[in-house]
Order: sequence, then structure tokens, then C-alpha cells
Amino acid sequence: MTCVNPVLDCLMNHRSIRKFKSDPVPEATIETILRAGTRTATAGSIQPYAFIVIDEPALLKKISYIPAPLAIVAVVDQYRVKRYYELNDAPFYNDQAINLMISAWDATIALQNVVVAAESMGLGTVYIGMILSMNLQEALGVPEYVVPAGLIALGTPDEDPPLRPRLPLEAVVHRNGYQIPSDEDIAAWYHEGDAAWMNRFENEWTEEQRVKFIERGVTNRAQNWTVGHYTEEFTIVQSKGVMDNIRRAGFRLPTEERP
Ligand SMILES: Cc1cc2nc3c(=O)[nH]c(=O)nc-3n(C[C@H](O)[C@H](O)[C@H](O)COP(=O)(O)O)c2cc1C
Repeated sequence: MTCVNPVLDCLMNHRSIRKFKSDPVPEATIETILRAGTRTATAGSIQPYAFIVIDEPALLKKISYIPAPLAIVAVVDQYRVKRYYELNDAPFYNDQAINLMISAWDATIALQNVVVAAESMGLGTVYIGMILSMNLQEALGVPEYVVPAGLIALGTPDEDPPLRPRLPLEAVVHRNGYQIPSDEDIAAWYHEGDAAWMNRFENEWTEEQRVKFIERGVTNRAQNWTVGHYTEEFTIVQSKGVMDNIRRAGFRLPTEERP
């Protein structure tokens, strides 16, 4: 696609960066990208989220397995909202599923604005999903009603990876309702990526590697995603971490009755 303006140019050239130079990100740049983050739309104009900026090396290591000079954690922040309400004799009942979801929506779109702003200034970023299951009360001292919503590691890129493939638009876009795709459609949409994976599997991997994967039940890309990478055990452990975070923060879990 030919891009027609610098914003689209930036969006269309997004690549996750996983190798960073060690130079610190200048304070003025950090402030600019965070400000851009806070310009995102926000439900009820309440901004029920916060950014926790991390540049302390030991903490960076703990939070992000990808070495980078800076990390930004976006959290749901109903603690600040609660205290504000309490200071103004307003009742607080934002400990419910809708508030959790809306705040997580707020937090992640704000973080995506930070990503776009950072990329527009020549920085590289990568999201790191495991923050959602991390105990931030322990790691970062967050109070009640604060749960992780997203994390980016960022810095000056030390690699220039190619654009990663995306599914064709028709695979992800529905008009005026969800049209159930046929098995043939699904197979066709994933075909290119599947074929590329199979090519690597058959031609680039050693016989020993191949045998190891086959023994684990991995003979195609879908199986590599599930049994090979995001295993059921991993998914269960991560989900437990997420639910523990929600519970620990004091949110009423959707299945619980009002006390
Ligand atoms: C919610 C989310 C979580 C992600 N978590 C990780 C992660 O833990 N580690 C990682 O290396 N990349 C992570 N990524 C980056 C994706 O792997 C990356 O976006 C995808 O491979 C496509 O590559 P691209 O961003 O360069 O287009 C994550 C992306 C998203 C949106």
C-alpha cells in the first residue's frame, strides 16, 4: 500500500523490535510519548489507568525478559479513582467487571498511542504479554484496584526486521454482522504462513530437531502454536496469574454475587 501521510506511514511500517541499543531514552522524549498516550480517548473522561515507567536496571530485568533501556507498564487504575471519589463523598462501586474491562480498554489504547508516538520518533517497541499474570503488588508496589493491562519494552532499535505478515483483510473484516467463514476460507487465509512454516520445518531444520518436534506432536504451524509454544499448561498458569491479580486487586469477579 502506498502511504499518503506520515501517520499512516508510521502505522503501516510497524515492526516489533526485540534488540535495543543501551542508550537511555531522553527524558523529553519519554514525556512526549507519555503525553501522546494520555491524549487517547478515555471512557467518561476519567482516565482510569496509569503508566509505570521503569528505567532502573534490576527492575527492568524483573519486568521484561527482553533487554531494553526502558519499559512502560500500563495498569488499570481504579485506586486513584476510588480515592478521588472518597475525597468527594461520592460512592465507589467501580470494582465490577464493566469497570475492569473499560479501564483495561482505556489503558491499552493509551499504551498503543505511546507505541505509535515512540515509533514516530524513531524508537522501537515490543509488547510483552506476561505482565498480565505478574504480581505487581509484589514487583511494583501497586495498591488495591490496580491490575496490569499491558507492557512495552522500548528503546533505540538495534535491528531492522522486515514487516511481519498479516492475514488478508477479508479474514478479519466482517460487514454488518459476523459471517461464519468456511473451512476452505480459513485454510486459504492461513495457507501462506503455513507453507512458509512447513518450508522451514522441512528444509531448514535438522533431522534431530524435526524428530523432537514430531515426538511432541508438532507437524504443522497450528500445532507449533499450541502444543509447541502456547501450551495448555502455560495457558492455565498464565490464566491463574490473571485471575489472582483481579482477585488480589479487590475486583468482584464476574461469577461472584454482590456481598
Ligand atoms: C498483546 C500482545 C502481547 C505480546 N507479547 C509479546 C511477548 O511477550 N514477547 C514478544 O516477543 N512479542 C510479543 N508481542 C509482539 C508480537 O509477537 C508481534 O506483534 C507479532 O509477532 C507481529 O509482529 P510485528 O509486531 O512486528 O508486526 C505481543 C503483541 C501483543 C499485541
